Amino acid sequence: MSILVAYSSQTGNTEKVAKAIHEALGEKAELKKLPDVNCEGYDTVVLGYWVDKGTANAEALEFMKALSGKQVVLFGTLGAGDAGGYHQRVRETVEKELPADCTLLGHQLYRASSMRLKALRKQHAENPDDMEIKKLLDDYEQNKHRPDAQDLKNAQEFVLAALS
Ligand SMILES: Cc1cc2nc3c(=O)[nH]c(=O)nc-3n(C[C@H](O)[C@H](O)[C@H](O)COP(=O)(O)O)c2cc1C
Repeated sequence: MSILVAYSSQTGNTEKVAKAIHEALGEKAELKKLPDVNCEGYDTVVLGYWVDKGTANAEALEFMKALSGKQVVLFGTLGAGDAGGYHQRVRETVEKELPADCTLLGHQLYRASSMRLKALRKQHAENPDDMEIKKLLDDYEQNKHRPDAQDLKNAQEFVLAALS
């Protein structure tokens, strides 16, 4: 089985997860960063994206169009928590973009640090009594060092199980 681990990453979160997955898969997998990645010749593609306005980032969406006929495992990193079923909605939005003849073997999201933290700190400083902003800020502060070792281990186990 030939496996490609392809990913898009701006600030390094998705890259960390992609590298951990590649390490777990060993010699049977190749690791490549988008763009300029050709998936011809691979049966299985593990694709990592970062969430941009509720869906996968544009570079990853563009690459997804080429995954016709492949077995696919998707993973994404994102800043927001799962309040109101947000993660499920993101997964569903992204999955709609896959070519219809793909076989989706699994799809996971991982919380990660986000540039929104800086804006939230400012908002909180300006509105110290706003409990909604405080709650959101605490959540983002808690996740500023993610993906952490446990996330990477979860990602490795998830992909190995999805491909077994
Ligand atoms: C322009 C922009 C838009 C984003 N939109 C969302 C979003 O809609 N939902 C979310 O949970 N996180 C959002 N994020 C946070 C990123 O998805 C998160 O930080 C991700 O881990 C970045 O991945 P990278 O480090 O691999 O680039 C956004 C970040 C940026 C810069």
